[in-house]
Amino acid sequence: MTLGTPRLHLRVAGSTNERAKELAAGGAPHGTLVTAGSQTAGHGRQGRSWVTPAGEALLMSLVLRRARDGGQAPSLLPLLAAVAVAEAIGDAARIKWPNDVLVDDRKVAGILAEARPGEGWAVLGIGVNVAVQTFPEELRATAGSLRRAPQEIEPFLAALLAALERRLDEPIAAVLDAWRARDALRGRPISWTQGEGVAAGIDGEGRLVVELAGGGRTALAAGEVHLGASG
Ligand code: BTN
Repeated sequence: MTLGTPRLHLRVAGSTNERAKELAAGGAPHGTLVTAGSQTAGHGRQGRSWVTPAGEALLMSLVLRRARDGGQAPSLLPLLAAVAVAEAIGDAARIKWPNDVLVDDRKVAGILAEARPGEGWAVLGIGVNVAVQTFPEELRATAGSLRRAPQEIEPFLAALLAALERRLDEPIAAVLDAWRARDALRGRPISWTQGEGVAAGIDGEGRLVVELAGGGRTALAAGEVHLGASG
């Protein structure tokens, strides 16, 4: 296994992604792993913050270099990571496009991939609520936890690294099929800033296909969608 070595574990980090990006920019090898017990400036997609109680979540960032990234286009890396996280969780895990991992329709894991194609590396940041006990009021309706013991965080990390290693070696078509098998949105009404419709799976480039309310289809390449119609 090449993912996870060398490893830097911090009791408290600003953001493991920021630390891993510094290491990558300084030449850290493929597979370098940064983990933390807590973060003071953890961040997620769409500029949001990512806050978890100390010692109750897996907080990790991996340095991936192009020569060993399985040839995946950078935009598909988050989908690949979501498949690996879902596999580490088990049968109950589903994926909400593009890369939120849900159990019982609640988000238990988030993924933030930050690529520097010109420099030949990407940092894959993953937060998993392995043992989170309670969430702040504003997250209670949408966030979920695996509700495992804190001692389960390390074994979960090992399972996740193994799943990532396997998926990174696979043709992307197989990864996308695995993603489709866990699609949380397919057949359900969704909305986004500019429209609404019914989710109809992903295409070969990982775009979300939507059957539009007014007829026709579109494919969303980036951004965020919400379950349910906007009205
Ligand atoms: C999201 O769903 O918005 C993505 C959340 C990603 C959070 C993880 S926690 C470890 C790593 N460090 C960060 O600052 N962010 C990612």
